[in-house]
Amino acid sequence: MSKKKKIGLLPFAAGFAAALVFGWNIFPQILYSNKGQPTTFSHTGHLNHTQKDLQDLDCVDCHYYRADGSFAGTPSLESCAECHNEPLTGVPSEQTFVSEYVKKDKQVPWNTYQGQPDNVYFSHIAHDTYECTECHQDMENADSLPPYYENKLTGYSRDIMKMHECERCHARENTSNACYLCHK
Ligand code: HEC
Ligand code: HEC
Ligand code: HEC
Ligand code: HEC
Ligand code: HEC
Repeated sequence: MSKKKKIGLLPFAAGFAAALVFGWNIFPQILYSNKGQPTTFSHTGHLNHTQKDLQDLDCVDCHYYRADGSFAGTPSLESCAECHNEPLTGVPSEQTFVSEYVKKDKQVPWNTYQGQPDNVYFSHIAHDTYECTECHQDMENADSLPPYYENKLTGYSRDIMKMHECERCHARENTSNACYLCHK
């Protein structure tokens, strides 16, 4: 009897271990592809206020609300071209940025780490009492843009805020969690 039990356990343990390796290490690598960003950008490099040309630059120069309260979204080419009409540095990525986007008057197709599915409604102005880092990675102290991972099945970003994370805060703050609030 006891001998039979031992034989049964070994394949189970091996299969279980294999499943863990697959689930934790291999499956995420298959599911997500690292698309990166179309061009480099350094937050710390641009928010270095000791440099003369950058002294007045602040978050709101690139991430601002329009007069109607809507959020401007990802930075426009104009907000970069103001300074980068010609290359300012010898950095190759900046020279490519100027020749491929600024000179061709082509908007940069930035990827939004927090980009939500189309059926989710989100507005920044309703959440402007919170720090950006409540929902986003800390960009203020990042000297490069983090890798952008796309879910190969859905096409969405890996790093979006999940429904339960939105709902957890709404519950804490006594705000509605009715489906139609977020799904229009
Ligand atoms: C000169 C323009 C510029 C300034 C100034 C700037 N950013 Fe950004 N920011 C960018 C660009 C470019 C991206 C990459 C595109 C994107 O992810 O939306 C980005 C991305 C972000 C994102 C990620 C949004 C997402 O989900 O993709 C956050 C959060 C952010 N910035 C916060 C800040 C904060 C906080 C400040 C001020 C401390 C700041 N930024 C100042 C240009 C700027
Ligand atoms: C207020 C002027 C100003 C604006 C606006 C600005 N830049 Fe810059 N940028 C600079 C300066 C100055 C440097 C050189 C900084 C240094 O010497 O480290 C620089 C450096 C760079 C570099 C090369 C070094 C690095 O940080 O990787 C890239 C790429 C770049 N900028 C992209 C952008 C993009 C994209 C935008 C718009 C989202 C933008 N910049 C907006 C002034 C600006
Ligand atoms: C309560 C959570 C929350 C807070 C706080 C928040 N964001 Fe966002 N942010 C989001 C979500 C969710 C998205 C994706 C919106 C979408 O795809 O419709 C987003 C998208 C963005 C984008 C990409 C452009 C866009 O509109 O899709 C930028 C840039 C950004 N946020 C910057 C900021 C900055 C800067 C702050 C602080 C001033 C901030 N966010 C505060 C949740 C938040
Ligand atoms: C850190 C807390 C917090 C998080 C995280 C958060 N919310 Fe909210 N949200 C609030 C609060 C508080 C209000 C009520 C604001 C008010 O009434 O002025 C609100 C209001 C809203 C509203 C109604 C206001 C409007 O513009 O119609 C929507 C929609 C909404 N949130 C969607 C979302 C979604 C989607 C997410 C996740 C991607 C999210 N929220 C994450 C705190 C949060
Ligand atoms: C506070 C905002 C919020 C509320 C309230 C909310 N949702 Fe969502 N929902 C989201 C966000 C954000 C996503 C996308 C992120 C994700 O998939 O977790 C989502 C995704 C979904 C999805 C797709 C799930 C998937 O993984 O593909 C379904 C289905 C859904 N919601 C149904 C509902 C129903 C039913 C209700 C009401 C009982 C509800 N939601 C209430 C924010 C919300």
